[in-house]
Amino acid sequence: MAFTQRTVNCGVLRPEHAGTEVVLNGWVHKRRDFGSVTFLDIRDRYGITQAVVEREAMPEVGEIAKELRAEFVIAVKGTVRMRENPNPNIPTGLIEVLAGDLEIISRSEVPIFEINDGNLAGEELRLKYRYLDLRRPSLQKNFIMRNTLYQLTHRFFAENDFIEVETPILTKSTPEGARDYLVPSRVHNGMFYALPQSPQLYKQLLMISGFDRYMQIVKCFRDEDLRADRQPEFTQIDVEMSFIEQDNIIALTEQFIQLTWKEILGLDIPETFPRMSFHEAMSRFGSDKPDLRFGLELKNITSIVSNTDFKVFNDALALKDGSIIALNAKGCGAFSRKQLDELTEYAKKYGAGGLAYLKWSAEGELQSPIQKFLSEDQVAAIKNELAIENGDLVLITVGEWERACTIAGALRLEIARRSGIIESVKNTFSFTWITEFPLLEYSPEENRYIARHHPFTAPMNEDVHLLIDAPEKARAKAHDLVINGYEVAGGSIRIHQNEVQQRMFDLLGFTREEAETKFGFLLSALQYGAPPHGGIAFGFDRLLMLLSGTENIRDVIAFPKTTSALALMEQSPSPVANGQLGELGIAIIKGNV
Ligand code: AMO
Repeated sequence: MAFTQRTVNCGVLRPEHAGTEVVLNGWVHKRRDFGSVTFLDIRDRYGITQAVVEREAMPEVGEIAKELRAEFVIAVKGTVRMRENPNPNIPTGLIEVLAGDLEIISRSEVPIFEINDGNLAGEELRLKYRYLDLRRPSLQKNFIMRNTLYQLTHRFFAENDFIEVETPILTKSTPEGARDYLVPSRVHNGMFYALPQSPQLYKQLLMISGFDRYMQIVKCFRDEDLRADRQPEFTQIDVEMSFIEQDNIIALTEQFIQLTWKEILGLDIPETFPRMSFHEAMSRFGSDKPDLRFGLELKNITSIVSNTDFKVFNDALALKDGSIIALNAKGCGAFSRKQLDELTEYAKKYGAGGLAYLKWSAEGELQSPIQKFLSEDQVAAIKNELAIENGDLVLITVGEWERACTIAGALRLEIARRSGIIESVKNTFSFTWITEFPLLEYSPEENRYIARHHPFTAPMNEDVHLLIDAPEKARAKAHDLVINGYEVAGGSIRIHQNEVQQRMFDLLGFTREEAETKFGFLLSALQYGAPPHGGIAFGFDRLLMLLSGTENIRDVIAFPKTTSALALMEQSPSPVANGQLGELGIAIIKGNV
C-alpha cells in the first residue's frame, strides 16, 4: 500500500525552515495530550521532531492522533513553525511541525519496554527484543560511530598503501590459546573445519606471497570465557607488513589512533605513546594492560618482610620467584570488616588464598591481624616504602611474583572503583605500549611451554641465545596497545626463518610430526623466500567501547551474545534435526549434553 513519503528526516529542521511544508516519516516516540492539543515526538535515525495536532482546527487529524500509541510508524504532513516553548536539549528543539495530515503506516503492539535511554529494562529482555533495543538513540549513535570507524579505517590504510584481502572463515583447527569453534564437514565425515581465531597464518602467507602491506576488517571466533569486553565472535582490524621493524608498526598504529580520536571525538592526542616493558607494568601496576589514568602503584616489600614468623609470607617466599606485594589504598583506613571481607573475596577470585592488611586510623593507630608478626622496624619500613599517612590501608598479596602482582593489580582497580577514582578520570584517555613480553610461559597443566602471544612471534635479538638455556627468560618482539586499561591491539614481529620456527615448535613441545601436521604449510612456505614481516590486530569492538564511552562490549555489537555465549533473540545455539546430524556422520552422546 502506498504511503506518504517523507520530504525531510526527523533531525534536520531548524528555524530557517519556518513556513515550509514538510512530510516526516518515523516512529511515535511520545504522545502528550493537552485537551485540544496533542504533541507527538516523532523519531527516526536522524533525530526527534515535535509535531502538533490542533484538534479543534483539524478534527479529522485529531481523531487519527487519538489512535496513536508508542512505536506506531506514521507520516505527518504539515508546516514548520517556531515553538512557543523551545527545547534546548535537541537540535530541532526550536521548531515544530503543525500537522495538516496524519497517516498511520504501521501499528505496534505495546512495546515490551520503553525505548528510552534513561530508564533501561533488564539486559536479557533487551537482548531478546534487540530490534527494539536498537531503536534507542544512544545505541543508534554507537552504530553510526561504528560505521564512521569502518570508513575511516579503510581510508587510512588505503592511503598508506595497504590492500584488503579476505581470508577463509572455514579454516584448519590449530588451537593455541582459546578453543576453536568447529564446523563438521558433510563431504568428509569425521573431519572438521575451524572458524578462525584470527587470520594470523593467512596474513603471514600473504607476506610470503609478496603483498607487502595487508589489512582486513575481519570477524574472529574464540570459544573462551566471556567478560564485559569479550565476545565469542568479534571484529579485528588485522594488519601485516613486510620489510619493517617493530618501530614502523608502532608509528603507523599511533598515526591511526591519532586520526581516529581526532575525527571521531575531535580530540588531539599525543603523537607518540609512552612504552613500558611487561616487567615494569606488572611490577608497578600488577597488569599487562595497566590503567595509567591514576597512580596507586604497587610496591614489592619482599625484602622488608623476608624474616617474619608469619607462615603465609614464609610459604610464599619458599616458592620460585616468591614475592610479597603491597598496595597503599589511600584513605581507605576506615574500611569496615565487611568491606575488607568483600575485598578478600574479590582477591580470591584472582587466586589469592586470603588477604593480609594493615590499616591506620585517622589518628594514626595501626590495626592489623598480622601486626604481631611484624617488628616496629618492619612496620616503619613498610610505612616509608608505601608513603603511608594516617587513614591509609595497605593490602598485601603473596605468591609467585606474577601471580602476587596480578592479584594486587586487580585490587588496585577495585580500590579505584570503590573510592571514586575511576569515575573521576572517566573522560580522560591514557595510551601506552606494553613491550618486551616474555616469549613463553610454562603451563603446569600441560607440562610444557606455551607461547604468550602466539608461536609465530620472534624473540628479541638480544635474547635469541636464551632459547637454548633459559627459554622462560626470553622476551618477545611483541607489542600491545593499552588504552585506559583495555588491551586494544596486539601484535609482533614474526619468525621468518624456517629453522627458527621449527626450533620454536620444538620448544613448545611439538614433535616434528605434530608440527608438520598442524603447521606444515607454514614451515613449507618459510622455505620459499619469506620476507621479514610483522603486524598488529586491533580489537575493533574494543576501540569502539573506548570511543563511545561504554564498558559493555554488547553496546557496540548489533546482535551480541550473552556472557554464556547465547543469542537470546534467535535462540542459538539450538538443536538440529537428526537427519542433519546423520549427513555429517555425527551422533550426540546422551549424558554429555
Ligand atoms: P590478539 O589475540 O591479541 O592478537 O587479538 C588482537 C586484539 O583483538 C581483541 N580481542 C577481542 N575482542 C573482543 N572479544 C574477544 N574475545 C577478543 N579477543 C581479542 C583485543 C586484542 O588486542 N593474530 C594476533 C594479532 C597479531 O599478532 O598481529 C591476534 O589475534 O583488542
